[in-house]
Amino acid sequence: MTILVTGSAGRIGRNLVAALLARGEKVRGLDLRASGITHSAFDEVEGAFDNAEAVGKAMRDVRAVFHLGAFMSWLPQDQAKLFAANVEGTRVVLEAALAAKVQRFLFASSGEVYPEGAPEFLPVDESHPLKPRSAYGLTKLLGEEMLRWAGRSHGLAVTILRFSHTQDASELLDPESFFSGPRFFLQARIRQQEGFGNAAAVTALRAADDGQPAHVLAQNEKGRPFRMVITETRDMVAGLLAAVDTPAMVGETCNLGATEAVDFAEALPKMAAITGLPVRAVNLPGAGVFYETSNARMRKLTGFKPVWTFDRMLEEAAIAWRAKRKS
Ligand SMILES: NC(=O)c1ccc[n+]([C@@H]2O[C@H](COP(=O)([O-])OP(=O)(O)OC[C@H]3O[C@@H](n4cnc5c(N)ncnc54)[C@H](O)[C@@H]3O)[C@@H](O)[C@H]2O)c1
Repeated sequence: MTILVTGSAGRIGRNLVAALLARGEKVRGLDLRASGITHSAFDEVEGAFDNAEAVGKAMRDVRAVFHLGAFMSWLPQDQAKLFAANVEGTRVVLEAALAAKVQRFLFASSGEVYPEGAPEFLPVDESHPLKPRSAYGLTKLLGEEMLRWAGRSHGLAVTILRFSHTQDASELLDPESFFSGPRFFLQARIRQQEGFGNAAAVTALRAADDGQPAHVLAQNEKGRPFRMVITETRDMVAGLLAAVDTPAMVGETCNLGATEAVDFAEALPKMAAITGLPVRAVNLPGAGVFYETSNARMRKLTGFKPVWTFDRMLEEAAIAWRAKRKS
């Protein structure tokens, strides 16, 4: 029997496929694009989650599903695509899984099902009210509800994991990275905020831009530096394996991510020491990003122990940064 990994060409999916193959599993991928993975125990279906034919093909002889694939965007013009991939897509994948009578279904939800930008208490644990602010977070909450329904009404053995923000360590110092570019590099952040149409943020950021490459230390309107959880992809994969290996995780919903949040006021000088770029502190409109999420439940139920601290991630990021400068 086969394990299906959706989003198999993505950051976490690709690494999970490799880890499952290393355990001797037979694995199938489902993604819009090819993963590039070649292995005798791996095959893949290229197709969209809301394409019932492609999903049906992917679900053949499957005993467990890791539904990791999703569309991630915070651009207003992407909402229809978000709901098609993450809501209708998840419904179609779930329907096929029920028809195929799969034994286990694990779902990649997100910390954005909480109001991460405006938490009611810290650290955010699983008892925190679910009030997504972004359309993306809403699509994840709707996905969760469909999963809970399938568990309740069809007895599907479901596990919901609310992923923290996740990156490959090597992405941290890459100005072109989807996440780290805008998070840590001034000009990439300007482009991102222009895309979001956040005129006030663009004005504040442009005032700090002298046209030369620089890091940005994002702070809220009162000057409080941002703080958030950043997890290394390999820790997420370890968590996913721990979840599938733990019978007590059936029916559970857990936060999955690093233990310590990253304080940007501490992180940026360390990053700049590697890159040699200046750090521009910019006060951005609004309350900013300031949260930490508890992974205590996950650790207690599965023994999950993340090992990639931010400092350790930076060591690998530094190697990638230097290699890029040499090439
Ligand atoms: N990376 C993070 O910071 C983060 C944080 C919270 C939750 N998550 C969730 O974790 C999961 C994996 O994240 P990742 O970082 O590996 O993302 P990723 O963007 O690297 O990979 C997602 C994959 O899904 C595929 N995909 C998107 N829409 C599709 C569709 N309609 N049909 C088929 N395939 C489609 C993409 O081609 C891509 O390969 C996602 O569900 C994401 O929402 C990620």
